[in-house]
Amino acid sequence: MKPISYLAAPLWVLQLASGAKSFRANPLIGSARLNRRGLHMARVRLARTMAERRRQRLAASVGAAEIADYTRDGYVVCRDFLPPELFAEIRRGLDANPLPSWERREGATVTRRASLDRPDIKGRPALAAFLDDNCLFDLMRYVAGCGGEPLVHVQTVIAEPDPSRPDPQNTLHMDTFHSTAKAWLYLQDVGPEDGPLLYVPGSHRMTAERLAWERELSMRAARHADPEIAAGSFRIDRETAVRLGYREPVAMTVPANTLVVADTHGFHARCASARPTHRSELYATLRRNPFLPVTGLHFHAMPGLRGRLSTRQVQLDGLLKRFDIGGPWHDVPPKRLADPPSI
Ligand SMILES: [Fe+2]
Repeated sequence: MKPISYLAAPLWVLQLASGAKSFRANPLIGSARLNRRGLHMARVRLARTMAERRRQRLAASVGAAEIADYTRDGYVVCRDFLPPELFAEIRRGLDANPLPSWERREGATVTRRASLDRPDIKGRPALAAFLDDNCLFDLMRYVAGCGGEPLVHVQTVIAEPDPSRPDPQNTLHMDTFHSTAKAWLYLQDVGPEDGPLLYVPGSHRMTAERLAWERELSMRAARHADPEIAAGSFRIDRETAVRLGYREPVAMTVPANTLVVADTHGFHARCASARPTHRSELYATLRRNPFLPVTGLHFHAMPGLRGRLSTRQVQLDGLLKRFDIGGPWHDVPPKRLADPPSI
C-alpha cells in the first residue's frame, strides 16, 4: 500500500460503523488479523441485533402470515398482488410509452432499469397508484429490518444462454453482511427456463455453521480471486449451503402479478436462462446503515430527493463517469418494455 493511502485511514475507521462491505477497498474490513480476532463477526452480530430491534417496531404494519413466511424462509411471496385492472393498466402503459432508462451488462445478460421518478410518470395514474400504496413498502421495511424509502424502478432482464460469458448473478450469493430487501413484482409469468430467482430458504438466519463459514471467508476475502467476494458479496455453492444446514434452493417460478420480497443477506441467485429471455418487473430495493438505532431519518426521504432518486443517482453516476470513477450503468434512450438493449 502506498504511504499516501494512509490519509484515508480516518475514513476506513468511520466505515466500520456503516454498511461498507468491501474487503478489498477497506484495509480494516479486509484485515485477516482483525477478522481472525472477530471484526467481521462483530459487525454481522451487531447488525443482526439492531435489525431485529428495528424489525419489532416495524411489525405492526405487516400481516401475521407475511411475518411467519419471512421468519421461516427469508422471503415472502404474494400472488395476485395488485388488483387485476390496475396491473393490466400498468402493463399497457409500460408496453406503449417509453421511460428514461439506463443499462448495464454482466456476461451475456443486460439489465435495464427505467425511472419511476414522479416527474417521469406524470400523467400515468396507474404507476402513481402503485407507488402510493404502502403495502409493498411496509413489507420491504420489515424484511430489510429498517425504515426508509425504497428505490423503485422498472427492471428488464435480457439474457442470452451463453456459458462462455457467465453472469455473476447466476452464482448463489449474499449481497452483503446484513439484512437488505429486494422486491420483484413480475410483469410476466416466470417459468423454469426464464431465469427465475433462486433462494435458499432459511439462509437469512445466522446459524453457528453459517457464522463459522463467514468468519473463515472473511480472513481471506480481501485477496480472493473472485472480485465479488473481495467486494463483500460472498459466493457459495449449493452443496456448501446444504452442508451449513440450509434447505435446497427454491426457484421462484410464478405467474405475472406475483410479488416476491426477499432478504438478500440470504443466499440467492438469478438462474441462468435456458433460452433467450426478455423479462420485466417492478423492482425495488431498500438498504440502509445496518447499525442505526432508529427507523426514520432516511436521506432518501428528504424534500427534493423523495420520488426523484433515480434521476439524481444517474446524474451523480454521469458526473463520476467524467472522472473515470463512474458505476456500471450507461444512459440509453427512453425505452418500452419490449425494446432491445442499446449496449
Ligand atoms: Fe444479489
